Amino acid sequence: MSTHIRNRRLTVPQLVAMKGQQKIVSLTAYSSAIAKVIDPLVDFILVGDSTAMVGYGRPSTLSMRLEETIAHTRTVVDSTRLACVIADMPFGSYQQSHEQAFRNCAQVLADTGCDAVKLEVNQALASTVEFLVARGIPVMAHIGLMPQFVNVMGGYKAQGLTPESGVALCRDARASLQAGAFGLLLEGVAESVARKITQATDKPTIGIGASPACDGQVLVTEDLLGLTGDQVPRFVKPYADVAEVIREACTRFANEVRDGTFPETHHCYGV
Ligand code: KIV
Repeated sequence: MSTHIRNRRLTVPQLVAMKGQQKIVSLTAYSSAIAKVIDPLVDFILVGDSTAMVGYGRPSTLSMRLEETIAHTRTVVDSTRLACVIADMPFGSYQQSHEQAFRNCAQVLADTGCDAVKLEVNQALASTVEFLVARGIPVMAHIGLMPQFVNVMGGYKAQGLTPESGVALCRDARASLQAGAFGLLLEGVAESVARKITQATDKPTIGIGASPACDGQVLVTEDLLGLTGDQVPRFVKPYADVAEVIREACTRFANEVRDGTFPETHHCYGV
């Protein structure tokens, strides 16, 4: 079992220092139940805006609201004590101006106690990263396939597959790092580009659908548990079929209630 012995929450500088020493493991969580289970198993928990899809059943991440991010991030922080917790800033909460970004990121940090924020950024948003970092907000920059740009990109498309796209991605990575991002999340990035970016920096790269060339990996927990049905991205290995476990347990309960074999001991609280 590859859990790490730790007795306090991992900090952002400690996470950064893991580069080159050990692979970084991350999963998403938005509920207390999942956060408690994964806390000792991962280095950081991402309270992703994928919550809009996996938690609320909405068609994209675009509808995630700041109040929802704050509520779920606070739940995850309150339910954990070991993993670094990173909140994913929702669409529309940081793109308008530096001041808007600072106000909302500061609110997320202050109201939830999380350790850092993640922003989907390209070269144009690098100055926002710089503004935030200079004011005490640790930022992980998410580049490559950016779900908040789905309408601009015309779908969820892997990035870096052509030489031009690879160059653009390296430029986004460089701009984010020069602006002070403490790490990069690379989503849907071609392996050769992910490797090039990873080798060119002393900051950790965390991949999702971006090959083992990255310094660490993150997955949406519900995807690896088999809880997202036919929405699971192709690159996710099915580690478990929890939907089937739930189906079986709930069917047994329903059958017991219906056929009168529901155990007597369930009759009253504490009796
Ligand atoms: O919202 C999310 O879950 C993400 C994934 C890339 C991990 O950003």
